Amino acid sequence: MEQIRSATAAAVICRQLAISFDEVVVKFGDFHAMGPTSLDVRHGEFLAIVGPSGCGKSTLLNLVAGTLVPSSGAVAYKGNGVAGINHDVGYVTQKNYCLPWRTVEGNVRLPLEFRNVPPADAREQVRDALAMVGLLGFEKAYPKQLSGGMQQRVAIARTLAYRPSVYLMDEPFGSLDAQLRTRMHEELLKIWQETGATFVFVTHDLQEAITLADRVVVMSKRPGIPKLVVDIDLPRPRDIIDIQASPAFGAYFKTLWAALDVH
Ligand SMILES: Nc1ncnc2c1ncn2[C@@H]1O[C@H](COP(=O)(O)OP(=O)(O)OP(=O)(O)O)[C@@H](O)[C@H]1O
Ligand SMILES: [Mg+2]
Repeated sequence: MEQIRSATAAAVICRQLAISFDEVVVKFGDFHAMGPTSLDVRHGEFLAIVGPSGCGKSTLLNLVAGTLVPSSGAVAYKGNGVAGINHDVGYVTQKNYCLPWRTVEGNVRLPLEFRNVPPADAREQVRDALAMVGLLGFEKAYPKQLSGGMQQRVAIARTLAYRPSVYLMDEPFGSLDAQLRTRMHEELLKIWQETGATFVFVTHDLQEAITLADRVVVMSKRPGIPKLVVDIDLPRPRDIIDIQASPAFGAYFKTLWAALDVH
């Protein structure tokens, strides 16, 4: 009886998880890149991952997207093992590729075409996404006519237009200036609040991680493993300027900074 009850409880917990890494190790030949990593991401959670370059942050996202298979261990997505490319997630990769032969509008519309979204709905979703990243008016431009930061925003809009329930974002705001970054933070927090979507957000920027996340995972140097997980207990909805000025914010920053292997 006890066993049945705990099996049921385990199944319920599993359904509540958006993503689960169970003792996952990634090797490229003899090169031990990451793990063993065990980490759960709850539905609706905003999880940030920080850690030194090369520790395996992008690798973790690639495992969830199904573009990489673990050498050992298991990765589950919404309760099922990831097998093949995971079309359910929205992935803003570290290298934001725009298709050079498509306009801004055409790039953002691409995933909607794959999903056969009716043209009128697609137009609205593309427009909303471009408004969120501040690119209205550039619909007909080609990527080569845009700056690096603008191209990055096209790639972000492409994921936003798709309205996934799980977002994987790999340093999505790296080439944006401080003002645009803050604006994008506000947009993301709004999307998170309104949609209940799950976010796994990789960044080098501790301030960005604390501002956005419910939990911040600090990875160790390669082969990366989660060495510290910090709950960010700051009030929501978050006013970015207010929380960044709060003493609690400074305390989180100190804790996370101390855990990062920066030398
Ligand atoms: N396809 C691959 N073949 C061989 N080695 C790889 C491959 N992909 C990643 N690696 C190695 O695995 C390690 C982890 O890479 P990963 O890209 O996940 O790091 P990261 O934490 O995202 O780093 P950064 O912060 O610089 O983006 C690195 O040492 C990298 O060189
Ligand atoms: Mg990376």
